[in-house]
Amino acid sequence: MNKYQEMYKEKLKSAEEIAKYVESGFVLAAPSAMSQPVDIVEEIGKRARRGEIENVSHHSLIAQEGAAFLDEALAGKYYHVSWFTSAPARAGVQKGIYGVMPCNYSQVPMFWRDFVPHLDVFYAVVSPMDKHGYFSFGLTASENLAQISRAKYVFLEVNDQMPRVIGTHIIHISQATAVCETSHPIPTLPEAPISETDMKIGSMISELIPDRACIQLGIGGIPNAVGKCLFNKKELGIHSELFTDSMVDLIEAGVVTNEHKRLNRGKSVAAFAMGSKKMYDFLDNNLSIDMRSVDFVNDPYNIGKLDNFISINSCLEIDFTGQVCAESIGHKNFSGTGGQADFVRGCANSKGGKSFIAVSSTAKGGTISKIRPFLSPGAAVTTTKNDVDYIATEFGIARLKGKTVSERTKALIAIAHPKFREELTAAAKELHYII
Ligand code: COA
Repeated sequence: MNKYQEMYKEKLKSAEEIAKYVESGFVLAAPSAMSQPVDIVEEIGKRARRGEIENVSHHSLIAQEGAAFLDEALAGKYYHVSWFTSAPARAGVQKGIYGVMPCNYSQVPMFWRDFVPHLDVFYAVVSPMDKHGYFSFGLTASENLAQISRAKYVFLEVNDQMPRVIGTHIIHISQATAVCETSHPIPTLPEAPISETDMKIGSMISELIPDRACIQLGIGGIPNAVGKCLFNKKELGIHSELFTDSMVDLIEAGVVTNEHKRLNRGKSVAAFAMGSKKMYDFLDNNLSIDMRSVDFVNDPYNIGKLDNFISINSCLEIDFTGQVCAESIGHKNFSGTGGQADFVRGCANSKGGKSFIAVSSTAKGGTISKIRPFLSPGAAVTTTKNDVDYIATEFGIARLKGKTVSERTKALIAIAHPKFREELTAAAKELHYII
């Protein structure tokens, strides 16, 4: 047994013992999504249920279903603060039971280093330790390193099913307060279904993507459809906050080579990954992957160093001036800003860069137009009118950059669903956006 294995043995505890470190009023933070600890969260939940602790907050992006801090019965005792709302957290956020932190994803590490008043506990899932005493955070790099630098206690849940992913997201046993061991399948994300509309939009966008482009794909059916339409391209690069299943297919088909990237040449770069077990197996010990902190991946200046950068994201509504809401339905928080604004700004810095906001033209079974005179009252502006570039619907693609409000209004009405064009035109005239 080498000295790191001895250190590991000394720090090895049960999840129940680790949960006992937590005191009332503690602030806890975990990585997003698939790297959220399971057993430690469960044990802290038990303590909160027994009334041993209260006012313990759990900060993270994309909280996973079934976690004790999402249990509404524990409101005020052990509760979530959402930095990007996932579906299981949505109801609690909208009822005001959980907090919401406004943020651009690129700035989350900075917020933890410089603005959040304090952090008591960082806890996360890691893959098993290597002989040098290092653990990989596996599927999530995001903001982990910044949180570790602030936390009083660092707890690691060692899960032998977490892939060991190559990147800068590592931690040494000497940095951990305690570790526990577990074996849970890593949650998977079913592939977003692709509708006929998504495919239509995807294929129009793919025509504007040149060979050797560097791509970022967001969550949802349309980004997924774009991924499916890129098999006729050559020598693409990947630099994306989220690593997706469609990227595995493109790499395996030889479409992605990363050879023309001026940053991280030869590597596919991401801040976190969420998808199928096939993808997790692909990422395990794969030397062509470089998982990096989100303040590196989403930094608009880094994105700008990559030529022909193409970002594809989605939204909920767009107004005539080009303001994009991707995170709330009216005032009700739905998801988060995530990296949308980072990539839109990064693309503006990239030679040949293009950012696409792609949506189906209607919502709610065709009863609502997503292109509207105004955003709904209370809607959050995710991408500003000054940053927005391309908007795509199944009826075409409008480039808003360099267009006046009047020109934008006309271009947007032309790609709105035909059944709404007349009323949108009348509204635009009333607003004196067009005459
Ligand atoms: N008014 C009212 N409801 C609307 C709406 C509108 N304008 N637009 C959409 N909706 C409803 C839909 O009907 C759907 O409801 P349902 O779940 O009851 O069917 C729901 O909102 C989700 O809409 P959908 O178009 O299916 O969303 P999506 O899964 O394609 O995701 C975003 C779109 C915008 C929510 C998602 O891309 C997101 O969260 N973006 C955040 C920021 C970002 O882009 N980050 C970078 C990439 S990770």
